[in-house]
Amino acid sequence: MDSILVRGGGPLKGQIPIAGAKNACLTLMPATLLSEEPLTLTNAPRLSDIKTMTALLGSLGAEVTSLQDGKVLAMSSHNINNHTADYDIVRKMRASILVLGPMLARDGHAIVSLPGGCAIGARPVDLHLKALEALGAELDLKDGYVHAKAPKGLRGGTINFDFASVGATENALMAATLAKGTTVINNAAREPEIVDLAECLRKMGAQIEGEGTSTITIQGVDRLGGATHPVVTDRIELGTYMLAPAICGGQVELLGGRINLVQAFCEKLDAAGISVSESANGLTVKRNGGDIKAVDVTTEPFPGFPTDLQAQMMALLCTANGTSVLEEKIFENRFMHAPELIRMGANIDVQGGVATVKGVKRLKGAPVMATDLRASVSLILAGLAADGETKVSRVYHLDRGYEHVVAKLSAVGADIERVKDT
Ligand code: EPZ
Repeated sequence: MDSILVRGGGPLKGQIPIAGAKNACLTLMPATLLSEEPLTLTNAPRLSDIKTMTALLGSLGAEVTSLQDGKVLAMSSHNINNHTADYDIVRKMRASILVLGPMLARDGHAIVSLPGGCAIGARPVDLHLKALEALGAELDLKDGYVHAKAPKGLRGGTINFDFASVGATENALMAATLAKGTTVINNAAREPEIVDLAECLRKMGAQIEGEGTSTITIQGVDRLGGATHPVVTDRIELGTYMLAPAICGGQVELLGGRINLVQAFCEKLDAAGISVSESANGLTVKRNGGDIKAVDVTTEPFPGFPTDLQAQMMALLCTANGTSVLEEKIFENRFMHAPELIRMGANIDVQGGVATVKGVKRLKGAPVMATDLRASVSLILAGLAADGETKVSRVYHLDRGYEHVVAKLSAVGADIERVKDT
């Protein structure tokens, strides 16, 4: 296994290019199953999760060709010869459940392993299943697999989500494009990744209205065609790297960043005393001296503060002037970075879904362990401004969601390297 060594240093300066969104790509890829025509994605991120989704689609008979060093994914699903998504692949990545809706809509049957939980929570899929049942699917849970059938095809229906689930909205949206009749999704998730998926499906011939709002209406069509679609910029990678100059000082331009992708996050950065400006090239974050002010953060579905930036924001607030309260309302166990930050000298008290962070002057480098994707990068951010060296182990978590993190941070002056564990 590899580790990443970070040595605290001075202000950062330069540019960081932001890649295509992992969480958009992971729902755009299964959309290929909805059509027999080619679907090509550009601006795709080079990540291990993308490789896992590629393997899953391949196991179903789809062809996924990676071009231009992985930035282009040319996909074709004219020959789906297997309708079972095996536990072996699904257990590695929960987003695998997103092949269920498209496979069911296309061929009327699918068997998909239940994804199981992960470090940050139980991650049930009940809302996905309820949505598909509302479209006429017959579901049977057997031996850890969902056996789904729609012998006469899916039919339009009304889906009322108790919670604005991102994945369940994506599964329902994809399935509804080929259902007979009209589907209305109420309390739909509003994330930019949902908007990106709808725009791609529309290019394929789907009839969709309302994406980005809480109500999405879909008129089913008989078949979908092919398309070429650019993956939207990754707002979580964007927010993550915006915190590097916020924590270290300096000025960094995030190429491809747009304020509208991270509005709630920018409001919290502004309250903490960090200035963000937008140009045609992207977002510039500047911090010249001055203390970080303590701010309270509550994670919510988009357009609220994203849960995927909570761990990274905590790294900033560890050295803020004052006490910050972070409330995690999306996942039940998403403070595993806290004990690792405490090893670096942070003063954090976690009670259930609430973490109280009392700012300290500086953190001290220490050996720490990555526990999940976003926790791992928050430890790297903390190490950028800590005294001494921080060694982050188990960085395979990082490879799931961040391409070339060492290269991107070194390019703006961070003292960071990746080493093989002896
Ligand atoms: C997506 O996960 C993202 N993953 C997550 O990013 C992100 O944290 C999450 O949305 C929230 O924004 C991908 O897009 C691949 P949800 P998803 O369904 O779809 C509960 C990262 O770091 N729930 O909105 O699984 C669930 O347990 C990852 O990139 C049900 O109870 O999120 C959770 O508490 C982590 N029943 C909450 O809703 C369901 O059927 C949010 O889940 C579905 C979800």
